[in-house]
Amino acid sequence: MLELRSNAKINLGLKVLNKRKDGYHNLHSLFLPITLFDRLEFRHNDEITVTTTIDDFVPQELNLCFKAAIALQRFTGTNQGVNIHCEKVIPMGAGLGGGSANAATTLSALKALWNIDISMEKLLSIAVTLGSDVPFFLHNTPTIVGGKGDELTVFPMKEFPYSILLVNPGIHSPTVSAFKSLGRTEDFSADIPDYNDFLHNGSFELFSSKYSLENDFEPILFAEFPILEEIKKKLRSFGADFSIMSGSGSTMLGLFSSKNDGELLQSAYQYFRDIYPSTYIVHCILT
Ligand code: C5P
Repeated sequence: MLELRSNAKINLGLKVLNKRKDGYHNLHSLFLPITLFDRLEFRHNDEITVTTTIDDFVPQELNLCFKAAIALQRFTGTNQGVNIHCEKVIPMGAGLGGGSANAATTLSALKALWNIDISMEKLLSIAVTLGSDVPFFLHNTPTIVGGKGDELTVFPMKEFPYSILLVNPGIHSPTVSAFKSLGRTEDFSADIPDYNDFLHNGSFELFSSKYSLENDFEPILFAEFPILEEIKKKLRSFGADFSIMSGSGSTMLGLFSSKNDGELLQSAYQYFRDIYPSTYIVHCILT
């Protein structure tokens, strides 16, 4: 039996660039792995089966752990199976990449459990067929993500001097319609922030104001769900140095400097936790 933690991610800034011929969009974003985990168990089995702790579990065939296991089985031609059990903590449809993380964890786990000799390059090529965030989770380190999600440039961040407060108000944001609402054309172009500035001066607050760092999905979601913009402002009024939406929503996050003694963070946490049960204090995973 193998037991692994499968962590979420946040996006610190998300630019949606032009629409591609394959129907996807080119992106530019800083992805950070964070300390919010699902727990996955992998046991040898004749078939591939998935169980979870979620009440309204979608049919197994639509589960990303199941799809990842099938994809690896087909690619390698192995006849081994697995039972995967997922203890779900990461909110779903929340812009935190929970499903994609589970798919990447499944690929890594089955490489070991099935004793498969497969290169990282091949695993990455399987990963991108499962979802555009899945390749990032195979590396699982701070990364500038480009292309449709498959162009990965490791971001050599030595420290991240912030605690992160996640506030998920339970609004489900369908990714496909969020992309459609942006109405991007094939020749759309936009400036992208130079994250190396952040590496050099270490202050995310300065960096983000210099580049007016944003998540392009915010205006779309804020128009439909004004509460999200209120949460963003409230995070700032509680003393967050920076607040932004993650992914295609709807989790809002605030960065609280490690320099203060944590009081601001604690009072923000208590305020939001009373209203939204899916409120978490997390940290960036650097290695
Ligand atoms: O790859 P994933 O399953 O996460 O994507 C879901 C949908 O989001 C895609 O089918 C596509 O409509 C949209 N998408 C996009 N450009 C991306 C990633 C996703 O248009 N880079």
